[in-house]
Amino acid sequence: MPTIRLGALASGGGTNLQSIIDRCEDGRLDAEVVMVISDRLEAGALERARKHGIAALHVPVAKTGTDEWLEADRRITDAFLEARVDLICMAGYMRVIGPHLLGAFPHRIMNIHPALLPAFKGMHGQRDALEYGTKVAGATVHFADPDFDMGPIIIQAVVLVREDDTEATLAARILRQEHEIYPQAVQWFAEGRLRVEGRRCVVEGVDTAARISIDAS
Ligand code: GAR
Repeated sequence: MPTIRLGALASGGGTNLQSIIDRCEDGRLDAEVVMVISDRLEAGALERARKHGIAALHVPVAKTGTDEWLEADRRITDAFLEARVDLICMAGYMRVIGPHLLGAFPHRIMNIHPALLPAFKGMHGQRDALEYGTKVAGATVHFADPDFDMGPIIIQAVVLVREDDTEATLAARILRQEHEIYPQAVQWFAEGRLRVEGRRCVVEGVDTAARISIDAS
């Protein structure tokens, strides 16, 4: 299986990035992370990249829609093009991506969101589900499109909500599933199994792209 070149965008600690790097290194993923870009200089994700010898770039990103935001979008796009990435993973990236990046990598940018989309978009998917009182929560990997947390869904994991859950306990249980489904989505991409048909992403050769976690701890 040929190895694909991955780029990543991250704003935070980067545990999702780490789960992908680990699986690339142990051979479970036919991919190699070649460049990580963060809007935050202090992002743990940049540190994780450096530790693994991966190019790590800080690109400050201004308010969405401004000229400075478009300039950052151009810098990010150029960096990924120069690194010849096949796929970009938004891994805890808390910014809206711009038109240059989307245009340069059509259906080649994935995002992970800690909720069962289309429910609970935004910055606090886990908290919003808990406050709403849903009995299941979860995570979604989808292709990015110009609308935040939209785009064809590739894989979802369902997590059971406990009556005594706090935002932190629920987020931790969801995160464990994120670390499983994101590498899976990347591997399907590497294997050429993902086909976008309008709003739907068809995963060829699998019975279901849904996971139900029975982890109740
Ligand atoms: C993850 O839970 C991810 O789903 C979420 O940020 C966290 C990043 O954790 N992303 C979003 O909320 C995007 N809307 P990580 O930095 O440890 O991977």
